[in-house]
Amino acid sequence: MTEPVYIAGVGMTPFDRHQTVTSRELFGQAAREAFADADLPPDVVEEVFVGNFMGEVGENQGHMGPMLAKAAGVTAPATRVESACASSGVAVRHGVNRIRHGADAVLVGGTERMTHLSTPDATAGLAGAADALWEVNAGLTFPGAYALMANAYFDAYGGDREDLAHIAVKNHEHALPNDLAQFQQGIDVTDVLEAPTVSEPFGLYDCSPISDGGSAALLVSESFIEEHGLDPTVAITGTGQGTDHLSLAERASLTETPAARRAAEAAYDDAGIGPDAIDVAEVHDCFTIAEALALEALGLYEPGEALGAARQGETHRSGRLPTNLSGGLKAKGHPVGATGGAQISELTKLLRGDHVNSDAIPDATTGVTHNAGGTVASAVVHVLEVVT
Ligand code: COA
Repeated sequence: MTEPVYIAGVGMTPFDRHQTVTSRELFGQAAREAFADADLPPDVVEEVFVGNFMGEVGENQGHMGPMLAKAAGVTAPATRVESACASSGVAVRHGVNRIRHGADAVLVGGTERMTHLSTPDATAGLAGAADALWEVNAGLTFPGAYALMANAYFDAYGGDREDLAHIAVKNHEHALPNDLAQFQQGIDVTDVLEAPTVSEPFGLYDCSPISDGGSAALLVSESFIEEHGLDPTVAITGTGQGTDHLSLAERASLTETPAARRAAEAAYDDAGIGPDAIDVAEVHDCFTIAEALALEALGLYEPGEALGAARQGETHRSGRLPTNLSGGLKAKGHPVGATGGAQISELTKLLRGDHVNSDAIPDATTGVTHNAGGTVASAVVHVLEVVT
């Protein structure tokens, strides 16, 4: 196992419709919360990595590194990281690697503002994460792409819309007490099955929403915690990233996500653990099928076996592998560039015991985050462990 990278503080805005602010204020708010959580000032930061996917589309804003560093009150070198919906997961990974290469304190996170766009405009912007030549030109959207994956999964392994519905119902239930979640609204299987169709087999509740939000985490080294007398509870002990063909047409299978499998294998190897050590997971459920694909890529289920996990209660807060206790992308919301950082924020609090849903996992010591870009052409996985 390599040296842990300690999480000194985390912060995130509520994921919601934030109509009166921009992505810079969303990240600034999340960063201020992370500094307050760490009880450290911004001037400890030696470098900043911030995820953002569609600033140019949503806000006519490129060159976001300096702008977002300023919003956080930091003057250190700052870089925007783009990997579609995995942007801030990859930003976290850059921060981890930077600490491992000698930095003492790095600010990571992400930001995205989307809800001021119409749904067609947001959909067109999000399509930038697909293959423009081979997919977008043919009219493919993300709900359509994941619907193809869901139908392929049904064909290969069986299962039906009701299995998917249980994933949405669970994640809405988990979000109920989470004030940071966009939807604190319980739904039942009938609500899901009777909702308007978005792209067969998905209805409204099979989809993550369009959201605004910011996320941040202050990562620090072992020597930094010794020097400052800190006693952080949680560290990142494993990081991994994977890549696959951008377009679905080039993939060998629509029912597997090798980028995420490779990221998971690398992260477990880095942490010196196997999937059997995982107590709790925050995974990228941008559409209900994506949660099943993620759990399989993480090695937590065999291929074809994760679709029924929510229906059987296994991934429910009372089950053997609580998954998306935050509400997931489905109910917490999905401001794409902020999502990976928010997974780190939520899982850190869950493991520290100060998340509203920590009571579901009183003995958990090890968790995993899974953040995917596009149709999982990119994926990043982190292992978080309780270290005190
Ligand atoms: N889940 C639950 N409720 C949702 C929702 C979702 N995903 N999306 C919207 N709603 C609710 C809204 O809050 C609103 O409720 P209200 O009438 O009580 O205020 C109502 O549904 C209508 O919202 P609206 O924004 O008009 O819906 P829409 O039909 O324009 O868009 C989707 C719905 C599903 C098409 C849109 O959320 C979407 O495109 N999601 C996918 C985003 C995506 O692809 N992300 C990238 C993943 S890779």
